[in-house]
Amino acid sequence: MTAFGTLRCLGAGLLLFALCSLLVSKPMLDRQDCSTTAPSAASASSSKPIPSPRPAEAFHFEAFVGMPSSGLETPAVLPRAMKAPGCDLPLLCGWSLAQPVQDDAFLKVTASFQLFQQLPFNATLGIDGRSSVTLGTMDALRQHMNLLYENEKLVVDIPTLPTLNIPQKIHVIPMGSEPYFRRTLRDADMVSEGLWLAGSFPPRGAWLDFGGSHGRVTRALAAAFPQAEWHCSDPIFDSIEWGKGQVPNVHYHHAPQDPPMSSFSEGQLDGVYAISIWSHYNEESALAWFHEMHRIIKPGGLLWFSTHGFQTINYGTLESAVQKPHREEMLASLYLTGFFYFPMFGAKGDWQLSDGAQGTKWGFGAMTPEWVAARLLNAGRRWMLVYFGPGRNENNQDVYILRRN
Ligand SMILES: C[S@@+](CC[C@H](N)C(=O)[O-])C[C@H]1O[C@@H](n2cnc3c(N)ncnc32)[C@H](O)[C@@H]1O
Repeated sequence: MTAFGTLRCLGAGLLLFALCSLLVSKPMLDRQDCSTTAPSAASASSSKPIPSPRPAEAFHFEAFVGMPSSGLETPAVLPRAMKAPGCDLPLLCGWSLAQPVQDDAFLKVTASFQLFQQLPFNATLGIDGRSSVTLGTMDALRQHMNLLYENEKLVVDIPTLPTLNIPQKIHVIPMGSEPYFRRTLRDADMVSEGLWLAGSFPPRGAWLDFGGSHGRVTRALAAAFPQAEWHCSDPIFDSIEWGKGQVPNVHYHHAPQDPPMSSFSEGQLDGVYAISIWSHYNEESALAWFHEMHRIIKPGGLLWFSTHGFQTINYGTLESAVQKPHREEMLASLYLTGFFYFPMFGAKGDWQLSDGAQGTKWGFGAMTPEWVAARLLNAGRRWMLVYFGPGRNENNQDVYILRRN
């Protein structure tokens, strides 16, 4: 080593010694940090490498906060709903599929039951005077409501729920063999479950169905909970225009594919829900739209969204979404980066939409809770996690509920 090199080593050692001395009066934790992450003055000139600094966005999960029970209209069921047996950290232990809440108190506030209560008494379906409902009857209840809908009888008692004859050119999500209205009620109940768990029940104020297609779920919630104001936005112009003509109690907005969304001012909304929207964004668009949600939702408001994640890899019908060759890539990408994107629709785009970049923005997107924690919860503490339900949407997409800070 040259004399100049020796001097440099000594200089660095002295500088570190001075820094550690300065921290001596700080709490124990800081002193330990100093002794474990930086070499002491005596060892500074040895060949031990100095460990690299901690990454700026270290993962930690302190952002999970259960809802306080006082002052809420609903009991604090969140811990019961999320906790796996013997597991105190729901976020980390929740890898078994999240099940719908099986609580009588909740079932009575589902969108389906609220609609059912608007029917005349003789439509009871063996449910005891509409005063009690059990889980076993929920599917039967939805099936019953579906028949009334399909036979155009529901609209007689609930005029805000007309039977829609949806033309081929209007967007509807693929539903397999499940009847349109029964699936719609199931999805509306899934959203109302989230609002109930988050303590925002019954919904009040202004709510947006973001990427709401023609207003499929929006109108079911609007009819079930008329005390709130319901909005639906979508980039497909035809869906929005058609919905406007059919559904009088929903406010429709044509939205751009990229933010900002000029229809909504800062903090205008009490909450947003988005069924299968973040499941399509690439990482950049996902972040840009989370940012926009933060702008339009008021402090304390909620963002409910479903998206692909690890659970999707187990999902039986994955073939249609991510073909087999992409599974390994998806698994690796989720483990390594927390995010996965695949241009599922290619250059032709989805439905009538092309994102103008060979499908590099809107295709198949997936994320992990760690990614959510690092990007949304820890970074600037812009959001707080209220609920995480692995595979809660169709045993496929994970459901997240965030509260805006
Ligand atoms: C899988 S569908 C879900 C529709 C609706 N949420 C439902 O459950 O019936 C995706 C929806 O997102 C809309 N969409 C397309 N690009 C979008 C974008 N960049 N931002 C928000 N929504 C978009 C589509 O037009 C479509 O209505």
